[in-house]
Amino acid sequence: MSVGQLICNDLGKVYDGGKRALSSVSFSVPTEGIFSIIGRNGAGKTTLVRILATLLEPSYGTASIDGLDVMEDADELRTRMAIVPQEGRPLPWLTPLQTISSYLMWRGESYRVSRRKAEEALALVGLEDVRDRLNYKLSGGMKRKSLLAMVMASDAEIIFLDEPTTGLDPISRQVVWDLLSRLSRDRFVFLTTHYLEEAESVAGRIGIFEEGSLLALGNMDELRASMRYQYSVRVSSGIELPEVDGRVLKGRDGRVQILTTREEAVRLSDQFIGRDIRFSVNPVTLDDIFYHLAGREIHNYEEDGEGGGWP
Ligand SMILES: Nc1ncnc2c1ncn2[C@@H]1O[C@H](COP(=O)(O)OP(=O)(O)OP(=O)(O)O)[C@@H](O)[C@H]1O
Ligand SMILES: [Mg+2]
Repeated sequence: MSVGQLICNDLGKVYDGGKRALSSVSFSVPTEGIFSIIGRNGAGKTTLVRILATLLEPSYGTASIDGLDVMEDADELRTRMAIVPQEGRPLPWLTPLQTISSYLMWRGESYRVSRRKAEEALALVGLEDVRDRLNYKLSGGMKRKSLLAMVMASDAEIIFLDEPTTGLDPISRQVVWDLLSRLSRDRFVFLTTHYLEEAESVAGRIGIFEEGSLLALGNMDELRASMRYQYSVRVSSGIELPEVDGRVLKGRDGRVQILTTREEAVRLSDQFIGRDIRFSVNPVTLDDIFYHLAGREIHNYEEDGEGGGWP
């Protein structure tokens, strides 16, 4: 697999009726491993996925994948990509085996090869026992896994997965994470998710979207490095706290989180040890970064006053 680039240049989408779903998005990422975009409901993730997967025309700007333009070279791009859309469901009156083998035949494989690849992929996602059951009799999670098996069985080098783990139980989610790692060894996976720990653990690069704009992009180290406060200190409430250079957030469970600098985290740690106060210090997580960039509603904490002074 040759590693090229996914490039968006001033990409925008205004839907009929005037809704601006994407506003002048520009970025580039290598087409290797897993790239995940995160953002709250309505941030524009699905709109971007659909444009890149050649299912939707942008209103302005350009996008290309490995040198192929999503508008000009859409036919060729389609032969190289596969997508599981956010609301994707397999046809109810087919079985998983039929769904996947017919998809592979549609992509140009022979009947024999299609069937063999379909069987292998279904076994990989743990659906071998239900491969001949009609799709409408499968659970929601089984349907999602069978669609994942479908793109895995294909020879597509570029895979779009729009919220593949939404609605899956914790064990199935783990199964899908393992599959994603396997998939991304020799393909480019473009993933959207609402599970920040999922993006943090599986994605090599992460893009944070908010209201149609890209707020930040990079691997976890780069995202952290772009933050003024790179450490998170947690203490139980009810203790007297000093002035601090950082953001102070009060959890609904009464605990306090302080986003702060390395130096300040060291200083606070010294104080807490001296005062026998239980605390923890960690580098900021994607959750902290997302909250910091995209606002407070999606976080379990409330900011404690303007700019984070102590009560
Ligand atoms: N066909 C459409 N016509 C008009 N507006 C649309 C259309 N599709 C999406 N939108 C609007 O565009 C914005 C972005 O929607 P999009 O589906 O891209 O968000 P998203 O980030 O995928 O959200 P979610 O996390 O809920 O899936 C939203 O405000 C949405 O209401
Ligand atoms: Mg969406």
